[in-house]
This record gives sequence, C-alpha cells and structure tokens, in this order.
Amino acid sequence: MLTTSFFENNRKYVSKFLEINSIAFVNSNDELPRNGDQNHIFRQNSDLFYLTGINQEQTLLMLSPNHPDPRKREILFIRPTSKKIEIWEGKKLTRKETSEISGIKNVKLLSELDSLLPDLMFYAENVYLSLNENLGYSRFYNDIDLRFLNDLKIKYPLHVFRRLSPIIVSKRLIKTEEEIEVLKKAIKFTNNAFKRVLKFAKPNIVEYEIEAEITHEFIRNGIKSHAYEPIVASGKNACILHYTSNNKVCKNGDLILMDFGAEYNNYAADLSRTIPANGKFTERQKTVYQAVLNVQKKAIKLMVVGKTINILNKEVGEIMQSELIKIGLLSEKDIEDKGDKAYKKYYLHGTSHFMGLDVHDVGTKDTKFEPGMVLTCEPGIYIPEENMGIRLEDDILITNSKPINLMANIPIEIEEIEQLMND
Ligand code: GLY
Ligand code: MN
Ligand code: MN
Repeated sequence: MLTTSFFENNRKYVSKFLEINSIAFVNSNDELPRNGDQNHIFRQNSDLFYLTGINQEQTLLMLSPNHPDPRKREILFIRPTSKKIEIWEGKKLTRKETSEISGIKNVKLLSELDSLLPDLMFYAENVYLSLNENLGYSRFYNDIDLRFLNDLKIKYPLHVFRRLSPIIVSKRLIKTEEEIEVLKKAIKFTNNAFKRVLKFAKPNIVEYEIEAEITHEFIRNGIKSHAYEPIVASGKNACILHYTSNNKVCKNGDLILMDFGAEYNNYAADLSRTIPANGKFTERQKTVYQAVLNVQKKAIKLMVVGKTINILNKEVGEIMQSELIKIGLLSEKDIEDKGDKAYKKYYLHGTSHFMGLDVHDVGTKDTKFEPGMVLTCEPGIYIPEENMGIRLEDDILITNSKPINLMANIPIEIEEIEQLMND
C-alpha cells in the first residue's frame, strides 16, 4: 500500500515546480454513462490518485503554495455524503478519512468551490491545469479537464493558463521503492493467474474460458480490475495485435497468445506469454518461440540508463532481423529489397513502453531512461500464413547497473512451460 507521505511528497514536488503565485487544479475523472441508469465502473484519474491517494469520484485537488492564508495552500474538495447516499451507493469518504489518506488537512465539499474561487484566484497569476497529454489519447469529447479549463477561462480571462502535466510526468516517470513494491504485487497476481492458465489450458476450450480463469484468479485475490482489456488469442488471432474478442476455440496444435495484467492499487502489470494449447510445442513453434525469446533476452540487456525507446526499437530491430534470417523467415534478398526495416513484415510494433499507474504510462519515445523507470520489453513474431503469433512481454526496472526483470520468475522457457502444462 502507498503511504500518506508518498502522496505528500508528490504534492511537494509539484508545488516546488510551479511559478511563484500560481494555483493548480487536478480533477477526478468523469463518471461515464454506460446505458440506462448505469455508469461505467469508475477509475480515478491517475494524476489525482498520484497526488492524493483518493479513489473517489467528484474530487478536486487545489494547490496554491503561495497563498497568504496557510489553510488555503492545499485544499481537497470531495462530494458530500448522506444517509441516503450511504444506503444506495455505500459509504463515501468523510472529511476525516480523506485527510488521513491524502495528508491534506483542509477538506471541503465540492459545492463550496464557487464561493472560495474568487479568493483563491485573486492571489494567483498562473493557473496550472492537468490535461491528459498521453500521446495515444485523442480528446474526442469535452472531458472534465476541458470543461473545467474553459469555465475558468471564461471567469478569469486575465490569468495565465499553463500545463501541469510536464511537472507531474517528470515525477511519475521515476518510481519510488513504494511504487515498485506495489508493481511487484500486481506482477505477483498476474503470475498466479498465468500459472493457473498453464494448468487449465487444453485443446477445444474457448479463449474466453482462459480469460475467465485469469479473472477468477484476480477477483479471488481482491483484484477488481484488469489493467487493460485482456488478450487471449489462439492460432491466427494472435496476429491481430489488439484482439480482445477472445471468443474462438483453441484448436489442437494452436499456440495461444495471452497479454494481460492485474491492476493493483491502481498500478498496472503488463505480461505476454504464448503457450501451446495441447501442452507441447511443435518443432517449428519451438524455433520461432526461441527466436522471440532470444530477442527478448538481448533486448532486456540493452535497457540501460541514457537509452530511449526510439534507440531501443532500432537496436532491437537489428537483433530481430538477424533472428528472422536465422530461422528462414527473411532472406538476404529481403534485406536487399527492404533494408533494415525488412523485419517489420513479422514484427510491426515497438519493443517497449513506460508503465506505472497507466499501462501505457507517461513518457515519450525520446525520454532518456533513468534509474527507477519501468518499461516493458515485448518483442514478437507474427506469421498469419502459419497461423501463429508469439509475443513475450516482461516488465523491466531500469537501475544504475543492470536492468532488473520484475517478471523474471514468471515461466517463459520452453521446457518450463511444457513441464508446468503437463504436471
Ligand atoms: N497490453 C498492452 C501492451 O502490451 O502494450
Ligand atoms: Mn505492453
Ligand atoms: Mn501487454
């Protein structure tokens, strides 16, 4: 579990990087409609969780480190609770509980914001707001951050509006020991689920039966959520990179590619393994599997301080190219025709992404690796004409010396997988 001081330190860090006379706001995520009178299950905004530890909807953090009144330097606004809400939705956080989790002494109701806003804004020149700046996110609807921004801009057009995200990102990228412990827990539950699948998988089951085993293992350990939609892809389906329908029969002789991870304390694990439905790899499957494993082992060694994802992709591309030649999938002629990108015929995605509160966490392909960063290493070979796709994915901690594979104890060697499936 993350401690109150973790959230306090994160706020201290952010406050330190704000310009003098600034105010910063971080909103909780929207509650998104599902259908009828239902919402989708609420998941907290990762930045707000990182700064407060609060998982409740309708929460707003305000930081104003230079406000003349010390009580107004840090306020957490929450939704009210009542007997009626308690009966229908369950207990919501009290102010006291909110303070205990976050370390923020001044907890107010969201309905009090309007009356406090003139005072809070009066002492600020700059307003820092946190938008989701994940490069894979397209803002296709007027989300809470945009609505909040536009509302403030209308009310306070003479303030300077600034990006909070780069400050939070620079901190979120480097995981503390506490965060690593949480990640290790997410990985432990993910490992347990994989081992359960190894015992369960057999020919003629449907992919969703494997998904159910994984979900069962998560829920019986109190893990309420997958960190992302799990992929269980047998045979050719494994060549669909974001396959999530998970509804085809795993046939005798198929490989099954699984990509899943537990979300523990809002932190994601991200694992991929590929296993034979019948517990025995064919010689050809072994050859291709071993090629992916060779690439992964070499790639992990390259994940060192100063590297970037862009550089890693290039280096791994070369390693992949030589493995593909060795196993006869590429020829010298292919290399002549297509050059150093020939491998992309069989390996079309990147090797790595940052991980943490989000499975595709903050950080770009040009962010230089530093100790404390966690990234995946996930090479794959996809051959639709042979009905097979193989991806092997582990989560790697960058250190001052060698990278640490946080998934080193999750079975991956051919013999290990076969043995566990046939025990
Ligand atoms: N599970 C998503 C990914 O591997 O990037
Ligand atoms: Mn991944
Ligand atoms: Mn994955």
